[in-house]
Amino acid sequence: MLQIRDLYKSYGKTTALDGVDLHVARGETVVIMGPSGCGKSTLIRCVNRLTEPDGGSIILGGQDVLALQGPELQAFRRKVGFVFQHFNLIARLTVLDNVMFHLVLAGMDREEARARALLALDRVGLKAAADRRPAQLSGGQQQRVGIARALVTNPEIMLWDEPTASLDPILVGEVLEVMEELVKETGTTMVIVTHEVSFALRAAHRIVFMDRGKVVEEGEPQEVFAQPRSEIARLYRKLLMN
Ligand SMILES: Nc1ncnc2c1ncn2[C@@H]1O[C@H](COP(=O)(O)OP(=O)(O)O)[C@@H](O)[C@H]1O
Ligand SMILES: [Mg+2]
Repeated sequence: MLQIRDLYKSYGKTTALDGVDLHVARGETVVIMGPSGCGKSTLIRCVNRLTEPDGGSIILGGQDVLALQGPELQAFRRKVGFVFQHFNLIARLTVLDNVMFHLVLAGMDREEARARALLALDRVGLKAAADRRPAQLSGGQQQRVGIARALVTNPEIMLWDEPTASLDPILVGEVLEVMEELVKETGTTMVIVTHEVSFALRAAHRIVFMDRGKVVEEGEPQEVFAQPRSEIARLYRKLLMN
């Protein structure tokens, strides 16, 4: 489904990605973990070209992602759902309009877009909040709107960039619950950047550990936490034991 080969990216003298290889099978849920600044966001942002890598290749569903331009790139992005750490909702639009936005931009009939957006909101338990504004919702609810917005195009793959990292601890659970349900029920391919070790243990098929722009270890959750080989995996295992 997704093949990333030898991906490089630097910002001036900072090397963010230092030759990353990552393969994700269709229907697989991969969790990416690693310390702040190790390149996790850069890696997943390259997949839908929010960030342009300096070298390497990305093939998604047989398409050469780095060769896409203009309208092709726009169409491609609709096949990729992205959930941001800071939600990125549009404050002046209602919840429903936030979720419909990209469908309407893509030329879908408003009524159909509305029906689809309501379905997506229903899946995250927020249909009743459709006419509210983001500021009237809790952080957990805002992120669930962010998830509905990512879901609404029926993406082939979903990318999640620390979706619970900006939430108060008491609001993390409701978002993790929605995420776990989606993983189990949709069978959509998912790449999830998160530090939530117990979520990863329950929901991931595979965990990929990164450090300083490289993949340093990967494997099934049970396996990597039982016998971590890298320093990074050992640190995450400690979180699990707390
Ligand atoms: N837009 C940017 N401009 C300059 N440096 C950046 C930019 N984005 C990321 N970096 C740097 O690249 C490295 C990797 O960042 P990032 O991918 O955000 O890491 P992570 O998501 O794992 O915390 C860090 O050193 C970060 O400071
Ligand atoms: Mg990040």
